Amino acid sequence: MCGIVGYVGRSEAAPILLDGLRRLEYRGYDSAGVAIVDGDRVETRKCAGRIAELAKLMTARPPTGTYGISHTRWATHGKATDQNAHPHFDASGKLALVHNGVIENYQALKDELIQEGDNSFTSETDTEVLAHLVGKLYDASSGNGTSPVQTPKARLVNALRTALQQVIGTYGIALVHQDIPDFIVGARRGSPLVLGVGKEENFLASDVSAIVAYTRDAVYLNDFDVVAVERDKFEISSVAGEGSNYEVSKVEFTDEDIKKGDYPHYMLKEIFEQAGSVRDAMRGRLSPEECTAKLGGLNMTTAELRDVCRVVLTGCGTALHAGMIGEYILEQLAGIPTEIEYASEFRHRNTPMTRDTVVFAISQSGETADTLGAMRESKRKGYRSLGICNNVASTIARESDGGVYMHAGPEIGVAATKSFTSQVVILNLIGLLLGRMRHLSTSEGTQIIAALQSLPEQIEEVLNLSDQIKAIAKKYASASGMLFFGRQFNFPVALEGALKMKEITYLFAEGHPSAELKHGIIALVRPDLPSVFIAPDDAVFSKNVNNIEQVKARKGPVIAITSGEGAGRLAKLAEDIITVPKVPDFVSPILTVVPLQLLAYHLAVELGRDVDKPRNLAKSVTVE
Ligand code: G6P
Repeated sequence: MCGIVGYVGRSEAAPILLDGLRRLEYRGYDSAGVAIVDGDRVETRKCAGRIAELAKLMTARPPTGTYGISHTRWATHGKATDQNAHPHFDASGKLALVHNGVIENYQALKDELIQEGDNSFTSETDTEVLAHLVGKLYDASSGNGTSPVQTPKARLVNALRTALQQVIGTYGIALVHQDIPDFIVGARRGSPLVLGVGKEENFLASDVSAIVAYTRDAVYLNDFDVVAVERDKFEISSVAGEGSNYEVSKVEFTDEDIKKGDYPHYMLKEIFEQAGSVRDAMRGRLSPEECTAKLGGLNMTTAELRDVCRVVLTGCGTALHAGMIGEYILEQLAGIPTEIEYASEFRHRNTPMTRDTVVFAISQSGETADTLGAMRESKRKGYRSLGICNNVASTIARESDGGVYMHAGPEIGVAATKSFTSQVVILNLIGLLLGRMRHLSTSEGTQIIAALQSLPEQIEEVLNLSDQIKAIAKKYASASGMLFFGRQFNFPVALEGALKMKEITYLFAEGHPSAELKHGIIALVRPDLPSVFIAPDDAVFSKNVNNIEQVKARKGPVIAITSGEGAGRLAKLAEDIITVPKVPDFVSPILTVVPLQLLAYHLAVELGRDVDKPRNLAKSVTVE
């Protein structure tokens, strides 16, 4: 979603800001802009479209200067136009501001400003209203004879604070003023902002990956923090004007980790990283001696874990699908009643919950607005609220009562892949831990550990099928869409397969429990709409075969993902068969999802889609 990069130092700001924006490109955006203070003038370049367009504008008329701000916008208020692109200016044209998030009361604030005589709005955005408000407050503080005169820096910080006290909504902000040299100001509430601490230079960014090439020392700002940044110092306070606690931490990954290497796309790189990321999700967490998992990050005593009577899992998109599998896993391995809820529904639904319920917010980024909202609501109600996150510095990770990190490394491709398999592994670890405190015997624990430990090698085996899957993708390149079916643990995999397909190929795709076929979906079956059945050799295999027969009887082509004896039994039924290793059902999704990721990937490439930056999508959705 929207990205922010700010710089103040001794180097030219333009290339640093542009490079930072490029590193955030994967997150999704539809316009981009920069504002750099060039001597005594703030120079801006901005346009709808890709960063490449912005780069052309900057080459045609290069802005020079050693401090500035920049932004990629994912349109919320107003279309993706040049006018609506950030930065936005105040009425004086001296203050430039970029903003992530949504100012919910922007119309009321705008009406008030207009009533006071401000008629200089040039965009439809909520952000411009904020710029005007801060600018008005700054100008008004220039000395009215009654209060002591403050420095321009203090006035600007105070103007921002006063403005933010009037704002309802979420924000990550960076701003500059042309009259205040070498000074940028940032603030956050609900939208991430990180300060990068360098030598005689400092940075602001909405995501640390934008600045990790320049510094690995970072301060992850908290909600309601305001940061005043200069070349060689910074000061963090709160919106209310109080001091704020912070620590400078080392960024977990390096610039190398966020490079594509020899892969044509991040998505393919991340699909192929899964043997390693799954191994990392388990590293140090399996105890073969005690036949259980060790998850110290949950911050729960054995007695507390023993008392858990109900689990609620919540998330969005791919994380939701992992949670759906988690429901099956936790009920099977631990025998604990478990529910999965869309984070966006859970946060407003007022679900009745028992005292001993624990809530897990599942989120790769740890910043998804709805998942964060759900976790905060659960905390407000006093439930133990835990996170399953990849981004260790994220808001969910920091605000949760504990949790389990994925350690999957940065995931850049918009379509989530390795985070999904890591999430399912972690849900298995949680199932094993809770199960061993209940009915699972030592030998059952040992079998589960063995199943988990075999996964990395088995994933490698599935990855070796990439060429076969590529050929299948080519064959169906002119399909009008694709249907996905699965049962039990593999029903959510059908949903995930369909999600991957629509996200990056833009083909119509739906996932359903196989048995639902005859309750309506079968009306869609036709020769140009292939059905993908996730039908491993398990307890419900024969039932899947019945459903495949129903599709075949209506001339629908079938692609089957199967295992064990499945290939033999499906030989005469399915046009294409992809065979993955036979494993217990609780780990099966970790293998069956991989061919679906590859199928979507190869089909998207075949169709010439922009795999890593699919249209309209954002990697991290920080608005509701
Ligand atoms: C967006 C992304 C999806 C992702 C979802 C949840 O919709 O495009 O790929 O699954 O957000 O993201 P999270 O970071 O919370 O796992």
